[in-house]
Amino acid sequence: MKNKEWDQLYVNGTLCTLDPADSSFGLIKDGALAIKDNLIAWLGKRSDLPADYSSEVEINLNQQVLTPGLIDCHTHLVYAGNRADEFEKRLNGATYEEIAKSGGGILSTVKATRQASFDELLEQTIPRAKQLKESGVTTVEIKSGYGLDFDSEIKILKVAKKIGELLGLRVKTTFLGAHSIPPEFKNRAEDYINFLCAEMIPVIANEKLADFVDVFSEKIAFNLEQTKKIFECASEYGLGIKCHAEQLSNIGATELAARFKAVSVDHLEFLDEDGVKAIAKSGTTAVLLPGAFYFLREQQLPPIDLLRKHEVPIAIATDCNPGTSPVTSLTLIMNMACTLFRLTPLEALRGVTINAAKALGMENKIGSLEVGKIADVAIWDIRHPAELSYSIGFRSSST
Ligand code: NIG
Ligand code: FE
Repeated sequence: MKNKEWDQLYVNGTLCTLDPADSSFGLIKDGALAIKDNLIAWLGKRSDLPADYSSEVEINLNQQVLTPGLIDCHTHLVYAGNRADEFEKRLNGATYEEIAKSGGGILSTVKATRQASFDELLEQTIPRAKQLKESGVTTVEIKSGYGLDFDSEIKILKVAKKIGELLGLRVKTTFLGAHSIPPEFKNRAEDYINFLCAEMIPVIANEKLADFVDVFSEKIAFNLEQTKKIFECASEYGLGIKCHAEQLSNIGATELAARFKAVSVDHLEFLDEDGVKAIAKSGTTAVLLPGAFYFLREQQLPPIDLLRKHEVPIAIATDCNPGTSPVTSLTLIMNMACTLFRLTPLEALRGVTINAAKALGMENKIGSLEVGKIADVAIWDIRHPAELSYSIGFRSSST
């Protein structure tokens, strides 16, 4: 019997390993990558392949580039309807906050999402998930937060899981019950927080419906005290913590999240240096969302240089949602991160691979091509991985 019996072997292309040990893309020209039992079993130069290997299947990359499958680490993919009407209102001068305060915004999507059946919601979400997949995504984080009552939140989380099964995507789910205060709890924020902590988080944790809990911590949503209660409850039930922080103003949500060892803090346009230092210390990943920055015509840039200075891992994501980022291409987001935030193409690619894996606590399993990691890959008809950021919304040949 031969020593190396692989299931699949890729040859004749460029591997972009993003190996954290390499200070650049980790390119291996004329590389070979072998898969056994869905794990990467070997990779290196084709000329270094062991003499005694055999593989069930051999795939010719025809000079294409093979990267780790992309990871979209922040989406609100499951929702009903759309908000094209609000887009027009904003173009005529209304602000996002004004629309939210007058009962539109998140709550208008909540209304549509509550009314949709499981099947209707699934049907509306599938095209978005397919488009993400076409942009090279193999892992996607999906938040709830457009149900805001027991049954609707559970419905969203179950649709998210079903999307994973149907489309062959790895789905991580996040409970974002603290996205907005639903109409039936109007002016009773404390009661709503108590409901989330007493009745929702325990069930969601016990039934393993979510990996993380997220809070929209902001003047127009939940204050620090309310955010803290949710984080305490989530920690008690062993769920990971994420936070929509410092998106529209600086209220100190990032430092609070850092105290709870959040895996990520997301948005961060108004983050200051103290906040950056706090997440540098807690090992929290900064997730930047250029789609929302663009769509809200935001002027305040996230503190990229401070994040670099304090060596905070930077991830980027679509934030796919109907109100601030109706986008389903992660490669478009890579381009936006470079043009709007001046990330380098290498930073952008790390932002949707290894650093996005960190934002999901999965950096030991996915996000780079290394022996022992899960073998999900994306293949691109390009000659160098920088082209993924350079082209506007590139599509993968396959994932
Ligand atoms: O990530 N900021 C809060 N949540 C979403 C927007 C939700 C909405 O407007 O529907 C975001 O930008
Ligand atoms: Fe978001």
